Amino acid sequence: MAIEFSRTFLLRKLHQISGIVPLGLFYFVHLYTNSTALNGGKVFNEHVGDIHEMPYLLFIEIGGIFLPLIFHSVYGVLISSESKPNVFAYGYARNWFYLLQRVTGIYLFFFLFFHILNFRFGLIPGLNMTPVAGNAHRAFGIVSDEFQITWVLVVYILGVLSTAWHLAYGVFLFVVDWGFVIGEKAQKLALYASLGLALVLGVTGVNAAFAFVRPCGLLPQVLCEAPRITTDRPSSGTR
Ligand code: HEM
Repeated sequence: MAIEFSRTFLLRKLHQISGIVPLGLFYFVHLYTNSTALNGGKVFNEHVGDIHEMPYLLFIEIGGIFLPLIFHSVYGVLISSESKPNVFAYGYARNWFYLLQRVTGIYLFFFLFFHILNFRFGLIPGLNMTPVAGNAHRAFGIVSDEFQITWVLVVYILGVLSTAWHLAYGVFLFVVDWGFVIGEKAQKLALYASLGLALVLGVTGVNAAFAFVRPCGLLPQVLCEAPRITTDRPSSGTR
């Protein structure tokens, strides 16, 4: 009998937990680092530099990010290929959420492939060819130059919005499926909390993206610490 990926026990539990720890935790740290761009290039570069100075960084990246990401995304695509969306037959909110969870997952699969090659490795011909790894002092300039291209900025905005939904609704599915939240009323509250989390993550992510093209992102500049958006640019000829 052919294996049904959406009906395995252990692999599905592993798939769920890998989305929360370590990938979800990583994303909170990543969103924080990106948000430091609100206070200008110098501050952002210092934070990226601090990460690069961590001992055993390559092992942390491989074990804590790349391997869980490969497992979570490949298994997620397999589960999605078995899904049977029924939103047109039954237009309930939960059916739409189910569909959105899969649509954002598929988008993130391609987005993250592009994003990691783009910034971590600098390997997208025609776009940025300078890896942020090893060039922390130029991190802000690399991202900011890239975000001047409208379609790239749109791809990233869709990326942060997809992550916001996928992670927040994923937390809801996790707490229900693992039996942490039992009972109809408690599950309803957990759902509202996850929708609130999606909103906060989405707004924070979009604002962080805009911080690379406008001092203080979408917020009034008075709310940020003297943004110095141009001070970190490499002198001409160094890129
Ligand atoms: C405003 C949007 C974003 C910006 C400006 C941004 C920026 C960056 C930068 C500069 C790097 C390279 C870090 C380094 O080499 O030290 C990176 C890596 C990465 N980003 Fe993003 N990112 C954004 C959105 C996202 C989203 C939505 C996700 C989804 C989970 C994500 C996941 C990753 C991952 C997995 C890596 C590789 C981490 C590593 O190798 O250490 N990013 N990002």
